Amino acid sequence: MLPASHPAPTILVFDSGAGGLSVFREVARVRPDARFVYAADDAGFPYGDLSDQALVARVNEVVGRLIAAVRPALVVIACNTASTVVLPSLRARHALPFVGTVPAVKPACAASLSGRVSILATPGTVRRDYTADLIRQFSAQCEVTLVPAPRLAALAEAALAGRSVADDAIRTEIAPCFVAAGGRRTDTVVLACTHYPLLRDRLERLAPWPVSWVDPAPAIARRVTQLLGPAPADLAPDAPVRLISTARPLDSARVATIIGRKVAPPEILGSPGVRPWAAAS
Ligand code: DGL
Repeated sequence: MLPASHPAPTILVFDSGAGGLSVFREVARVRPDARFVYAADDAGFPYGDLSDQALVARVNEVVGRLIAAVRPALVVIACNTASTVVLPSLRARHALPFVGTVPAVKPACAASLSGRVSILATPGTVRRDYTADLIRQFSAQCEVTLVPAPRLAALAEAALAGRSVADDAIRTEIAPCFVAAGGRRTDTVVLACTHYPLLRDRLERLAPWPVSWVDPAPAIARRVTQLLGPAPADLAPDAPVRLISTARPLDSARVATIIGRKVAPPEILGSPGVRPWAAAS
């Protein structure tokens, strides 16, 4: 835990796109006093299509530059596709706490009554050894179906950008999650990509039958408070959230609506304006 003399830590939340905002809003709930930077590597999106080697190289490069620019006290990798392969190399390079986001197999299997659980994820997360290990470790009582959704993260990006996304396109991506066999049907679906909770209303509406959708964001927020401690009682006013991306400026109005916080004008990584927080504020 950091010393209590660290009242307003800088927290960097990182994803390939807007998906990490589903994690951001939970972390911001538990540490509203923190100075937040939300960073999206939109130039590299979608991470689900990259080889492991390309992804490890890319995330190390981009997160390394972000750390140098904003000097965070803690980094949240709000991306399953990255966390399931890149955390060891990030931890080896930086003396900082990293909180990852990985498929919530354990709580899902513990909660399932039917014993049928599906894990909805990007193709990258689905093929990871890390994911296979989680299933081996935590699914003893459960039949787990791994469902690669090649387009769902991109559909979430489109919907968040205000473009129309057909119900059928979403239905096709989630359909394999719903398994009914041997008198038991899927009752729990793990949202193992941070983009998916942002489509939650539509997932619920388009599901062929009701299921519990497991979103890991509250557990990630708990881990952040374990590492940084809880927010102090005498909260400083919210600092505007810094938004940094690698290709196009993030749409600050939309981000502010999703996270319910004030945001600063968007910045592009590599542009001269992206300086350490102390120098920028
Ligand atoms: N949001 C990311 C995740 O949690 C993935 C999206 C992408 O393919 O870039 O896996």
